[in-house]
Amino acid sequence: MRKAVCPGSFDPVTNGHLDIVARAATLFDEVVVAVGVNASKRRLFTAQERIEMLTEVCAGYPNVSIGSFEGLLTDFCRERGVHAIVKGLRAVSDFDYELQMAQMNSRLADVETVFVPTSPEWSFLASSLVKEVASYGGDVSALVPDFVNDALVARLGESAP
Ligand code: PNS
Repeated sequence: MRKAVCPGSFDPVTNGHLDIVARAATLFDEVVVAVGVNASKRRLFTAQERIEMLTEVCAGYPNVSIGSFEGLLTDFCRERGVHAIVKGLRAVSDFDYELQMAQMNSRLADVETVFVPTSPEWSFLASSLVKEVASYGGDVSALVPDFVNDALVARLGESAP
């Protein structure tokens, strides 16, 4: 059984993330989408909300499940018996840091990182940009699933002055 983890903050999940998860699901028998929970980082959505969004949006993939982790990703991989991490690469600018993390993770545990090139359609897409654009009232509805767009509008509306 070939298993992989797709880790990320997913604050919130975007169509770019889903592209990578969908393609990982064709490459591996089992994929765990792992939501990184870092209490010291301010997030727009709680870990539970991010997990619920991913659960809904990945429901169509029978070999994809959702998990979460605090601390090291390699500990999560070890606990789950996973030896592959799938990461999307949007551009060369992603590569330096991703390579460094991949090498550190392989030093920490018996894991390989598999880089999947992001589809050109989504190569500009980042959760941080989606939040920024949405916070100024920009339309991000083509960049995230519909219910994520609704959640963004609602959450950003709550925090408006
Ligand atoms: O969506 P993001 O913010 O790019 O996801 C980053 C994430 C959560 C995958 C990364 O920060 C991570 O793996 N954090 C867990 C802590 C860890 O293992 N750090 C060592 C990395 S070499």
